[in-house]
Order: sequence, then C-alpha cells, then structure tokens
Amino acid sequence: MLEKQEMIRKSFASDLDSVTNTNMLNELKVKYLGKKGLITELTSNMKDLSIDERKEVGRVSNELKNELNEKINSLESELKLKELNQKLESEKIDISLPATKVPVGAPNVLEKLIEEVEELLMSMGYDVVDGPEIEEDKFNFEMLNIPKGHPARDAQDTFYIKDEEILLRSQTSPVQARTMLKGEGKTPIRMICPGKTYRRDDDDATHSHQFMQIEGLLVDKNISLSDLKGTFDAIAKKLFGEDCKTRFRPSYYQFTEPSVETDISCFVCKGEGCSLCKNTGWITVSGAGMVHPNVLRNCGYDPEEWTGFAFGFGAERLAMLKYGINDIRFFYQTDLRELSTFDRKDSE
Ligand code: DAH
Repeated sequence: MLEKQEMIRKSFASDLDSVTNTNMLNELKVKYLGKKGLITELTSNMKDLSIDERKEVGRVSNELKNELNEKINSLESELKLKELNQKLESEKIDISLPATKVPVGAPNVLEKLIEEVEELLMSMGYDVVDGPEIEEDKFNFEMLNIPKGHPARDAQDTFYIKDEEILLRSQTSPVQARTMLKGEGKTPIRMICPGKTYRRDDDDATHSHQFMQIEGLLVDKNISLSDLKGTFDAIAKKLFGEDCKTRFRPSYYQFTEPSVETDISCFVCKGEGCSLCKNTGWITVSGAGMVHPNVLRNCGYDPEEWTGFAFGFGAERLAMLKYGINDIRFFYQTDLRELSTFDRKDSE
C-alpha cells in the first residue's frame, strides 16, 4: 500500500513539473483526483480488506489526496495569475492611438431655424398650427382677396390637381383663413404655421418647386403696424443677433393693406455694403402687412372691430442667410456628406 502511495506521489511530482498552463493542470487533476483517478483506484479493492486494513488504506489515500490537492491548488493560483498577466499584456490598449471618429447626427439646419422661430413666438403666446398641403382654391386664393382671374395669381405659378379647384398650396397663407374661420369672428388669434409650399418654378440656386414658408397671423383689437414692427424686430434679433436692425418698405399683397417688405440690416457688412446685400446694407427677408379688411370679413371677423397683421417668411431663405448656404437645392439633396458639412459648421 505504502509502495503504491509512494509511486503515485512520485509520478505526480514529475507530472506536476511538466505542467505549464491551467488546461494541463485540469487534466492532471482528473488523472489523479478524478472519479476514475489514481487515488480512487487506491481504494478500489477496499471490500476485500479487513476493517483495520480498510482504515489504513482510507487514511493513506486521504492523506495523499489532501497533499495532491494542496499542490494542485497552489500551482493553480500561480498559473492563473500568470495567465491573467499574459492576457493583460496582450490585450493592452494603446491610449495614445487616435480615436476612430463615430459619425453623429445633428438637427437639419432648416428644421433648427423653424424651431427657433417657433420657440420665440410660442413664448409670445402664439400657437403653432398646421394646414393641408393639398388645398382648395377657395382658401389658397379666394378668401385671401385673390379672386379667379386676378393677375396676382400669376405670381404664384400653381400646381393644380383637379380642375381649377384643388391644388398644392402655393403659400401657407390659406392657413390664415382656416384659423380665422375656426375663431368664428370672436376670439383673438396668434398663430404661426411653418409648412411646405409648392410652385411650378424651375429649380435653380434660388428657386425650388417645393419650399417652406413660416406664416404668422395676429388678430386682435387695436393692432397696428408698430405691433408688426416690434414682432418682426424680435424675430430678426433672435435669428441674426441683438445688433440686427429692421426696416419696412412699401409693397403690395392682395391680402394685406398696407403691405410691406421686411428688411434686416446686413449682418456681413453691418450696413457698409457688400455682395450679400448688393451694396445696399439691407437684406429682404419676408412679406408682411396689416390683414386686409376684405380678408377679415371673408373669414368672419368684423374689420370695424378687429385688426391684425400677417407675415410670411421663406424658411430656406432665412436658413441660407443664417448659415451661409448659397444654393436652395442643398436642402433637398440627399447627399449626407454635404448635409453634415453644415451640421459641423453649426456646432463649431
Ligand atoms: N404668401 C406670400 C407669398 O407667398 C407671403 C406673405 C406676404 C405672407 C405677406 C403674408 C403676408 O402673410 O402678410 O409670397
């Protein structure tokens, strides 16, 4: 028995010497301490032995088992540490390497501009409303004081869908009529409507058959042109900075009287004169005016009692000015590389 024990001890010692990793150690564990391992084998013929012999065999094999276990465990922690260090060494991260750039999205500049205007006007009590893009001639023209056959219609080369009645709206102004009709001539109105509009224009750097307008309408008692001026001034300052100045020039729209073109002082040359402002020091950004009495009347508001102002911005024009974009087609191309140039510019 003792001989066998000694043999196992010796062969274990030499096997243990050749172990260099945890896999080999596991194999060794199975060979000596496993269910069919050499230690178990030591006790395999117990049933043929006397009680005293059994005790002796039990004691010896337990002793050997503990001894081998101990050696295995100490080598195991040694090997694990070694392997961990090897792994850490081989997987070491070189933090001095340049990082891989992960492309991140950014808000579309046109959307961003519209949101800025919405935010400002909402803080002044305006509602942001919506209207249909497929519109009736009645709202797009007639209620706005532009009857059939009126030459003012020519300025808005319209896409008609069905006869002369259903069209793709050529302006967001029909939403003025729709909103006033809802107010039933009784409630004051403060609304803006950003939305898509369509015209039979040939696309070039400054024209697009589809573009965005931001319509604004305020109807209340005792509203005057100076209210419009103050509101326009606030919008211009929000978009182009506190030192932006504004002015009105007389103009003509069928649905406003008086009508104006609204200008902002040129933010590039600060009024000195440059190519952007064509040496005038001013840039035109929208049409506006006091709501025409006929329009108020058509929409159920008594012009003797109510007055109001309206304005219509070209959203792309504002965004082009603000972000230095010189081609309106930029907004409707799907080249993400080009779009991201402005995302970056904007976040710089
Ligand atoms: N609807 C006009 C256009 O498309 C722009 C406009 C001018 C809107 C004056 C208005 C306004 O509300 O008062 O050319």
